Parts: sequence; structure tokens; C-alpha cells
Amino acid sequence: MSAPTIRIAPSLLAADFARLADSVAACEGAGADVLHVDVMDGHFVPNLTIGPPVVAAVRPHTRLPLDCHLMVMEPERLIPAFAEAGADWISVHVEVCPHLHRALTLIRRLGKRAGIVLNPTTPLTYAYEAIPYCDFVLLMSVNPGFGGQEFIPGVIRRIEQLRDFLERARVALDIEVDGGIHAGNVAEVVRAGATVIVSGSGLFRGDIAANIREFRRLITAALASPRPASS
Ligand code: DX5
Ligand code: ZN
Repeated sequence: MSAPTIRIAPSLLAADFARLADSVAACEGAGADVLHVDVMDGHFVPNLTIGPPVVAAVRPHTRLPLDCHLMVMEPERLIPAFAEAGADWISVHVEVCPHLHRALTLIRRLGKRAGIVLNPTTPLTYAYEAIPYCDFVLLMSVNPGFGGQEFIPGVIRRIEQLRDFLERARVALDIEVDGGIHAGNVAEVVRAGATVIVSGSGLFRGDIAANIREFRRLITAALASPRPASS
């Protein structure tokens, strides 16, 4: 099988919010593939961050896809507003979205890539059932709500299990992984089967261009080495 395309998605949560346009330009100049936008409502997660007006403000400053990760209760209610604001990818947490088919169908009908997000201990079977209706699955590797947390090691096994399931089902779907990814573990995450790598502090701390180059080098090396055996 040919090597998968791996996309790097800096999380704007770790950017300087007072200079978002500059941060977005820096990400684009540094060769990022996607911009990850963390939307938090202060209810589903304790933190409160970005809404549609900020997405609309960022939109004219970049050609990169905006990947809006909705960490909100009742995400269906906000999907049209984020689509209108210029989101390209929209993902909803299965833990707060009882009508997943309806939400995913709505996202696709609005012309966007639809994703589902699973917290670190949410059963993978939620993803299995939703696969026909989505374009990517986002596996959280921290408890959502804050940047700069430690990667939860058990998530590697979940990435492998999801990858194996998708291979057996012969479905090409992106596996996005989000939280605690840095130069020290990105290779392991990619070898497990992730194809979209979100990183906030791992990329914004220090020089983002140098950090993205280092991620690419590590990813290329990881893909060149044998994959772990499927169980
Ligand atoms: C956590 C967010 C992540 C976060 C990642 O709730 O969904 O996208 O910004 O930040 P790091 O890479 O610092 O863990
Ligand atoms: Zn996120």
C-alpha cells in the first residue's frame, strides 16, 4: 500500500489571540496543511474560546482549510453558523450529539467535511456506526478543554484499532489525533495510523517553521519504517 498523506494541523488555541492574522500567516508560510480551530462553550468543556465571528475574521487571511472542532453542547445548533463563517471541516463530539446522522448529513449538505470526535474513553464503536456518514474521525488524546496537556498513552492502541477497522472495511477515512502531540511522540502517532496531526504547544512553542520541518522529518522517517503488526 502507498504511504498515506499526512496533514499537519496547528491548533490556533496555542497562538497569540491578539495577533491571530499573523499566526495564521506564520502557519501557512511554515507549510501547515490545515488550521485547527478549537471551539469551546464553557459547558461541555470548562474553557470558553472561539465562536463564528472569529472564524469569519480569520477566513480572509488564509487559503488553508479551517478545521472547526466543536467542543460544545448541542453542536447541531451551531453547524450552520460555522459553515457560514467559513469553516471547511466541522467535527462534533459523539458524547453530546445524539442525532449524529442528522448532524453529519447537515455538515455535508452545507458542502463541508464532516467529522466525529471521541473523547479518550468513549467506545470506538460510536465511530464504527457513523463511518458511512463522515469524512474523518478525530480521536482525542487528552481530555478536551485545554492546550498543553500530556498525551494519554492508551490512545495509541485506539488509533491502531480504528485503523485496522477501516482497513478491514476498505474505507479511506482520515484519522485525526488531537492533544499532547510533540516531536517526541509524533512518529508513534503516525505509525499507529493517524493521518491528521493536530498540535498546539508542540508547534507554537519556539519557531513554528522549524517545528513543522521537524515534524515532517519525523513523519517521513516513521512512514519509512515498518508498521506495527495488526492484532
Ligand atoms: C484540546 C484541544 C486541542 C489543543 C491541543 O481540548 O482540542 O486542539 O489545542 O493543544 P496541545 O497540542 O497543546 O495539546
Ligand atoms: Zn482540538
